[in-house]
Amino acid sequence: MRITVERLGHLGDGVAPGPDGPIFAAGLLPGEVAEGELRGDRLEEVRIVTPSPDRVRPPCAHARSCGGCQLQHVSDSFLAGWKQGVVAQALAQQGLAAPFRGPVLTSPPASRRRATLSGRRTKGGVLMGFHARGRDLVIPVPQCRLLHPDLMAGLPALEALVSLGGSRSAEVQLTVTRSLGGLDVAVSGGKPADAALRMDLARLAEQFALARLTWEGETVALRAEPMVQVGAARVALPPGAFLQATEAGESALVAAVQEAVGPARRVADLFCGLGTFSLPLAARAEVHAVEGDAGLTAALDRAARLTPGLKRITVETRDLFRRPLEADEMKGLDAVVIDPPRAGAEAQAARLAASTVPVIAMVSCNPATFARDARTLTEAGYRLDWVQVVDQFRWSVHVELAARFSRQ
Ligand SMILES: C[S@@+](CC[C@H](N)C(=O)[O-])C[C@H]1O[C@@H](n2cnc3c(N)ncnc32)[C@H](O)[C@@H]1O
Repeated sequence: MRITVERLGHLGDGVAPGPDGPIFAAGLLPGEVAEGELRGDRLEEVRIVTPSPDRVRPPCAHARSCGGCQLQHVSDSFLAGWKQGVVAQALAQQGLAAPFRGPVLTSPPASRRRATLSGRRTKGGVLMGFHARGRDLVIPVPQCRLLHPDLMAGLPALEALVSLGGSRSAEVQLTVTRSLGGLDVAVSGGKPADAALRMDLARLAEQFALARLTWEGETVALRAEPMVQVGAARVALPPGAFLQATEAGESALVAAVQEAVGPARRVADLFCGLGTFSLPLAARAEVHAVEGDAGLTAALDRAARLTPGLKRITVETRDLFRRPLEADEMKGLDAVVIDPPRAGAEAQAARLAASTVPVIAMVSCNPATFARDARTLTEAGYRLDWVQVVDQFRWSVHVELAARFSRQ
């Protein structure tokens, strides 16, 4: 079967028209002509007849087998344009134009400071790495081009953890975060930690100088409290805490949010996490920070109190899906920052629509829910001033963005 690819699908596959509907093919780019075996709606054993001028040689040796990155075979400029197009399409589906601002900001290679890897014990040893594309198989990634060098240096420690506490019947998940005191590792899916295993794990954490090791939610070793620098503050990371995936991505989002809120004196930061936006904003503004996870609000509160020179930060632990901030609770605010999870902020957007808040800075990792919530705001008289796309998840299909809305 011969196909001509029309577009990239949301999972990064090439999509071509076929006699019975769309045909999907991994690794193909728009404009490419390819031949292969049609199995269901997928083209397999693909041979490219006419390559795209946007095709590049994947920089990583594992690109063919590893499913961690989906789009290493395209140029940065193509991927930036594609990501911007995904946002434009989502907005268009809601009847909105996309006033894009600035170039897409792409995180550099080898900058991921937080990742979840998978591991499994095997007959002969250990398999540890990322899943193969669409399969359970674990692919070791000793030459990964995505992870920060400190995470790469930690791979032997992760392998040793799988060897010690993994099983052959199930897979363990290892979430590793680069912190100021060393690596913070949280493992789930391993053997239950009895006294002997706990001692062995603590010994291993010492041997590999891990800052902290958490096993099934229980801290089994703490050498140094894992801290991250956020603005002028140092925040203690709760185990498994949300953290923007790269420093470059975080800086780009913080800069966009700061520009969006401008000289605001009173700001609310909703879905604030550990204070990624609250802490830098508090250099100039009083901030009310709201978040559903009590561990995160506690970490932010402590950091705010220990950092000299900040304006007042008040924190509130609150489920913003069930109990969004009401319009009258937002009276007197100059700006609201909102950075919800993938589900978006439907209920909170409705309350913002009923508010008089002059400026809203919205950060999103999901163009579809962003566009839905943007429509709620624009129908209530907000203008979408600009959208900045941030390619924080380099070589992946994930899209991150910041946007500014103002009351007309
Ligand atoms: C995309 S993260 C953003 C965190 C923070 N703004 C940052 O940049 O580090 C979304 C945050 O929303 C929080 N969250 C998820 N569901 C929530 C809910 N129903 N109510 C309040 N917060 C929630 C998560 O705990 C997480 O911290």
